[in-house]
Amino acid sequence: MVMTLKHEAIKPHGGELINRMDDSSKAREEAKSLQSLTISKWTISDLELIGIGGFSPLTGFMNEKDYTSVVKDMRLANGVVWSIPITLPVSEEEAKRFSIGEKIALTGEDQVVYGTLTVEEKYTYDKDLEAKNVYGTQEEAHPGVKKVYEKGSVYLGGPITLLNRPDHGEFKDFYLDPAETRQLFADLGWKTIVGFQTRNPVHRAHEHIQKTALEAVDGLLLNPLVGETKSDDIPADVRMESYQVILKNYYPEDRVRLVIYPAAMRYAGPREAILHATVRKNYGCTHFIVGRDHAGVGDYYGTYDAQKLIEEVEDELGIGIFKFEHAFYCKVCENMASAKTCPHDKENHVHLSGTKVRELLRKGERPPKEFSRPEVADVLIKGMKQN
Ligand code: ADX
Repeated sequence: MVMTLKHEAIKPHGGELINRMDDSSKAREEAKSLQSLTISKWTISDLELIGIGGFSPLTGFMNEKDYTSVVKDMRLANGVVWSIPITLPVSEEEAKRFSIGEKIALTGEDQVVYGTLTVEEKYTYDKDLEAKNVYGTQEEAHPGVKKVYEKGSVYLGGPITLLNRPDHGEFKDFYLDPAETRQLFADLGWKTIVGFQTRNPVHRAHEHIQKTALEAVDGLLLNPLVGETKSDDIPADVRMESYQVILKNYYPEDRVRLVIYPAAMRYAGPREAILHATVRKNYGCTHFIVGRDHAGVGDYYGTYDAQKLIEEVEDELGIGIFKFEHAFYCKVCENMASAKTCPHDKENHVHLSGTKVRELLRKGERPPKEFSRPEVADVLIKGMKQN
């Protein structure tokens, strides 16, 4: 007798894929009569990710119990692993306008009402503790910490409804929500999928670790973050063009899909690596890549801190983590390698800092082909000229 093994898709984090979307005209009409709070682009992206289920099992902005538990123990109050607070900050003045139990409209600076929040709680919080525990530093030179100290001192907590998804403009062809990526993987017949987070163009080291992972799974979800990033990161529109170019020239079409991850970048290193893996699990990935200094910035985190932290919760997360050593091109091996696979001295390794790469691109020069595919370099050079 032939047994058919039935594959079940990976379960969303916390067990259920959340859907807090309501685009009915009734809901939108009702929102017009509510008191309105103007929210930042960052908050809009959090609202969207809660609404579409990317942040499952969250159903709203965190209340105090969840927030405190996440900051202190990296878990929601019910014990489920969660590494980064997802909160709605307001000033003390603004907080006074709203009463507990009131439903309010969340409006962008463009006057679009993106959603509603039922205000269950208003609470103050300890910024020093949030900075120290989540980002590992209180230095305001850290872009994520800077945000912590800049934002309002009161958090509004409660369930949300997403009424309007942000317009992803030129990226809209690459937008799928978690229910849709799950369907896509099923349609493609992919049972094992590796998710790849990036806020950078895909360089040879990225390509190497993606393809190494792809040797072991059915498909790759290239899932670049396109929300808010720091000003010296390469803008998302330029990156998106570079991803399409590298996929067209160097990847098998039937084994990769490019989908945007519409989140803001926190630069929280190890803790953000856990969030990144959690969200990709919700998108239906069975595996996730964590390489060197994942979601890091400056010298705030050790090269493998993210891998070490995620290892502590990997079993509970239930998504497989592919951990990669620092990868580089070795001139003696004549291929991509890492300390695990290459015996040669450092001077044989092609290594360029982000600053050096940007400097070359700004001058209109391609980085070495061992570092960056020429087609990618050309897109970046063109993009640097326009920005
Ligand atoms: S970020 O979103 O994690 O900040 P980045 O583009 O720098 O984006 O990295 C994407 C992924 O590739 C991360 O998992 C990172 O650890 C990994 N990575 C980047 N460069 C290398 C490298 N040279 N060797 C191994 N892993 C790398």
